[in-house]
Amino acid sequence: MAKKSQTAFVCRECGADHPKWAGRCSECGAWNSLAEMRLPGGKSPAREVAGYAGEAPRITAIGEVEVSDTPRESSGLGELDRVLGGGLVPGSVVLLGGDPGIGKSTLLLQTVLGLQDRIECLYVTGEESLQQVALRGRRLGTDLAGRAGELTLLSETRIESILAACSKSLPGLMVVDSIQTLYTEELSAAPGSVSQLREATAQLVRFAKRHDVIVLIVGHVTKEGALAGPRVLEHMVDTVLYFEGDPGARFRVIRAVKNRFGAANEVGVFGMTDHGLKPVSNPSAIFLSRHEKPVPGSVVMVTREGTRPMLVEVQALVADHPGGGSRRLTVGLDQNRLAMLLAVLHRHGQVALFDQDVFLNVVGGVRVNETAADLASLIAMLSSFRDRPLPQGLVIFGEVGLAGEIRPVPGGPERLTEAAKHGFTRAIVPRGNKPPKPIDGLEVIAVAHLDEAIEAVD
Ligand code: TYD
Ligand code: MG
Repeated sequence: MAKKSQTAFVCRECGADHPKWAGRCSECGAWNSLAEMRLPGGKSPAREVAGYAGEAPRITAIGEVEVSDTPRESSGLGELDRVLGGGLVPGSVVLLGGDPGIGKSTLLLQTVLGLQDRIECLYVTGEESLQQVALRGRRLGTDLAGRAGELTLLSETRIESILAACSKSLPGLMVVDSIQTLYTEELSAAPGSVSQLREATAQLVRFAKRHDVIVLIVGHVTKEGALAGPRVLEHMVDTVLYFEGDPGARFRVIRAVKNRFGAANEVGVFGMTDHGLKPVSNPSAIFLSRHEKPVPGSVVMVTREGTRPMLVEVQALVADHPGGGSRRLTVGLDQNRLAMLLAVLHRHGQVALFDQDVFLNVVGGVRVNETAADLASLIAMLSSFRDRPLPQGLVIFGEVGLAGEIRPVPGGPERLTEAAKHGFTRAIVPRGNKPPKPIDGLEVIAVAHLDEAIEAVD
């Protein structure tokens, strides 16, 4: 006899299961986040299959496992291949998260249009009508638009119907846009709820593994900044990519936060144009504004995104603020770090900015999350305060400690090589990052304390 359906309580934040309701999730500590969900009773067709990948369980010795190089299919977009660790792996499931309007649908449509001649692709849309997808296809460059006629689309949101439609003519790659619109009738919860997301993703993963199909899933990010039903999906899929950047900005960054087939934290850079997203293979060149003559408050630094060094420009504006309540504002940098740097500048550099408004910005809508931006930010503020520009051809990076010491940062040699490659002739860097042998065309000034750095730009 089929078992009666049971209920479980699932945390909306972390997806943990609890047998009983509680006010607080014992896993992640979130309050009032448990929602009741009905578990499908009896044997559903999907559950008759024993393993996660749909194969019968078998115990194997590690030595018997055949190891071959993972075959990869290029996505046709160099920057996307880069974040994926070299291309798409057959049978893998990739989750692409990001704010609404950032370009997830555009990117995946471009990918499938480019792949058309090599792999059979299917684009499942639950969010937009077939017409909207077709219209977007036409907008994307002439070479891709020409091929848009061959792409197969499916407008459906019931997961079982989608998989049934695919099983008849198996595609090599399937895009699901978006996971939040999918549902299974086995659960009573609304589409987009944690239980529905989890079930739909589990079914897609099983399908991908069983039929060796590449599945690309679009997931929207909620206001809190996490993927709706956050970590629930991340652990189920092979690769998690996040689209970052301001929907209004021209450049977007895709970051791999998890990758079973490559390095995590790798980034790919794209520019949004009238004809879709264009990969930017040399980001250093675009994030620099290259002023004709030096301007006060502008400093070029070398940041590192994944394994890639990138030149970006940090700008500071320090302006008189008569009376109390001066403002401190950062864009693309950590606000708390600014407060700390101002304190260090006061104490160890004898420059007080308490009666000044201070604004810090990273040009091009880039976010720099690493401490290597400290020294560049500090020197940019000083340059703006003194209204004295820094010489052209100078790059600065390094972490600033509370005692005014300049601490080394990871990847020193790559950063310096990148600066030299783009024609920079002088670099102020932490002493710990001084290269063992000189770099052609680059004079390296190694500093251990803030005094020395200030002196070097005097
Ligand atoms: P979209 O890919 O639909 O974003 P998402 O699926 O992440 O919600 O749309 C991205 C935005 O990009 C949208 O506001 C329109 C714009 N866009 C362009 O600027 N150029 C283009 O060629 C296309 C297709 C979209
Ligand atoms: Mg979309």
